[in-house]
Amino acid sequence: MKVISIISTKGGVGKTTLTANLAGYLSGLGKQVLMIDADPQPSLSSYYEITEQAPNGLTEFLTHPENADNCLSKIHQGCDLVYSDDHDNQLQSWLVGKGDGRFRLKIAIKQLTKKYDYILIDTQGAKGNLQDAAVLAADALISPMPPEMAVVKELERGTLSMLLDLQSYKEMGINVPNLFGVIYKVDRTKDAKQFVEYLNNSSKNKSYTMLNTQIPQSVVFKEATSKQIPVTEFKNSNKKQRQKAKKSAASIEALVKEIEGL
Ligand SMILES: Nc1ncnc2c1ncn2[C@@H]1O[C@H](COP(=O)(O)OP(=O)(O)O)[C@@H](O)[C@H]1O
Ligand SMILES: [Mg+2]
Repeated sequence: MKVISIISTKGGVGKTTLTANLAGYLSGLGKQVLMIDADPQPSLSSYYEITEQAPNGLTEFLTHPENADNCLSKIHQGCDLVYSDDHDNQLQSWLVGKGDGRFRLKIAIKQLTKKYDYILIDTQGAKGNLQDAAVLAADALISPMPPEMAVVKELERGTLSMLLDLQSYKEMGINVPNLFGVIYKVDRTKDAKQFVEYLNNSSKNKSYTMLNTQIPQSVVFKEATSKQIPVTEFKNSNKKQRQKAKKSAASIEALVKEIEGL
């Protein structure tokens, strides 16, 4: 089983869209996949149609990890979901009061090791205890990075500093997983090219690795979202649209290949 957390302290970079598309494509390949929506704003929870809603969601998953089995909803795409039901954002502070707060996700996931090939955790675009818990539960971290200077700045100030704060766990023998950047929402402008070069070069002496796959900026992602399907299942009768869809689908397939090798 591989646990991957999709993190970035910046909102709107594509975390939820990427999580849903990776999960949808992986389950189409026949993998057993669980998505965990660890964002109090539950966009991943409504991304796909829920066919069988579990009695509980994230709150029970974290507060009573021994009941993890009662928190697994079924999704039309064939994967499972722990939906977010923490609309008042209570869990962040609840976790602080628990000695093992930052390990609660890891503990809950441990109950499910035999059930899944992949667990994908979507997180909120900010620093917080729940995000820390998602980091410590993961085998690898993926961060979508749209080619904008604001993203680079927030990467250094936010995401990387959050990981740095967790490094002291290493002294206790607890591993902080590696961060893999994915260039995301790439368009054809010159800026994007320069940004790609900058990130690839600066990652050489930094604590993250850029993956080779780039995910294009494409209306297909939005259209697939409104149809509640992954881009890899998107069909269109219009030839131009079909080509766009192919390109988007190919990028998700290529990213999954890279992830399988991590
Ligand atoms: N590859 C893409 N191309 C174009 N638009 C995208 C792409 N991925 C995501 N989006 C759009 O960008 C917005 C933010 O994406 P989202 O996944 O919700 O980000 P986050 O979860 O990081 O806040 C959404 O409107 C989404 O439809
Ligand atoms: Mg999101």
